[in-house]
Amino acid sequence: MSNDASSVQSWVPKASEIAREAGARLREFFAQGVETEYKGDVDLVTVADRTAEKLIRSRLSEVFPDHGIYGEEGTRDRLEGEFRWYVDPLDGTTNFAHGFPQFCVSMGLEQRPSGLKPTEDGTLVAGVIYDPLRDELFSAEKGKGAFLNGKPMRTSSIPRLAEALLATGFPSRKRHASPNIHFYQEFTLRSHGVRRAGSAALDLAYVAAGRLEGFWEFNLNPWDTAAGILMIEEAGGRVTDFKGRHFRIDSHEILASNGDIHEELLALFADMFEGRDLAPIPTPAEWAAEREARETAKS
Ligand code: IPD
Ligand code: CA
Ligand code: CA
Repeated sequence: MSNDASSVQSWVPKASEIAREAGARLREFFAQGVETEYKGDVDLVTVADRTAEKLIRSRLSEVFPDHGIYGEEGTRDRLEGEFRWYVDPLDGTTNFAHGFPQFCVSMGLEQRPSGLKPTEDGTLVAGVIYDPLRDELFSAEKGKGAFLNGKPMRTSSIPRLAEALLATGFPSRKRHASPNIHFYQEFTLRSHGVRRAGSAALDLAYVAAGRLEGFWEFNLNPWDTAAGILMIEEAGGRVTDFKGRHFRIDSHEILASNGDIHEELLALFADMFEGRDLAPIPTPAEWAAEREARETAKS
């Protein structure tokens, strides 16, 4: 499909319809409950993930027959073409499987001009994230802004980490190899708090909507991030890697914010990676010893 004005305008409405249809299927599965299978140690998958991906794959192929599709549950269609959808049919599977109501459908579109090497990035041009339980549809198109249920959304203007609400997530594979628990601790102590709500795509949509000031995670994939990145940039925020460099679509490490607190977040990342001293936090044993000493002094 060519990149003329009519095709540009049709991406988001058509993708929104597809995300809503997939979201409606997820809502039905969520109401009835599903069996869980394991892809990795705590990496879950359900019939709902597979059914939603099948539906999205078939609808996208009908509507945009030349577009490629790269889906979490294995779809790899037409990846040599100019356009490529990154699809997470169900982001928040662990929540879904436990009946915890926080999950979504995420679809981001990358434009890859001919001649681009497979290792080179294209441009994110459209994205939709749909939360079927709240009926919230987040969308964005390159150069045209970001929207929540059709109304423009902007990132928040909170200027300092100390006043910020943040979010993060933990990988579902090789969790012990991730240092994120240390970052979770430090950011929690220096902000209004860090949410770990279990759906990275919704976390990103919430940064775009000004409900969160920042989000980071260590091990994400393009199907988690493609739609949300464009949304944040179109809503006035900033997305980089942990060193402040351009975020590549296949980067696993993402730092997203309202823009205003980005430098402060980067500085804390740098301090932590370089092992500089941060304000000490008592270990549970030190805290217990101190309490014991206080009790003894009282008696
Ligand atoms: C997961 C969620 C979670 C994040 C994990 C992702 P899935 O995606 O986005 O919030 O912390 O890293 O893998 O497996 O539910 O699609
Ligand atoms: Ca995901
Ligand atoms: Ca998923």
